[in-house]
Amino acid sequence: MKYSELIKLAKKAKEMAYTPYSKFNVGAALLTKNGKVFTGCNVEVASFGGTNCAERTAIFKAVSEGEQEFKAIAIIGDADGTYPCGICRQVIVEFGKDIDIIIESGGELKVYTIDDLLPHSFTGADLEDLS
Ligand code: THU
Repeated sequence: MKYSELIKLAKKAKEMAYTPYSKFNVGAALLTKNGKVFTGCNVEVASFGGTNCAERTAIFKAVSEGEQEFKAIAIIGDADGTYPCGICRQVIVEFGKDIDIIIESGGELKVYTIDDLLPHSFTGADLEDLS
């Protein structure tokens, strides 16, 4: 699938955002290595810490459906060039460093790796160093 298509699916998912508090809508579309797409939107709750970002909604949907191998995630928010928050970067790196992160900025698609956005990350590999 072309990344421009994946961005379109993220835009569609953004329409489902539940954002009564911030009114800032975000959509994400996650492409698995075997060609499936899982979409997500942000879901806010009155106790703000319970809010779930669009990226995590998409990733958790995929994992809960048995998928753990991801090729790319496209993210669209109300800001031009909406980048994943810190928590979502940490969740993305949990599933590997080879996931393309697609952002639309200034009318162009930009492709990043998690090493671009979360350098020197802490991962499960660090925990293995204990033994
Ligand atoms: N948000 C996302 O969904 N993804 C991000 O990576 C950035 C922030 C959401 C969370 C909250 O509902 C709203 O945007 C404002 O922070």
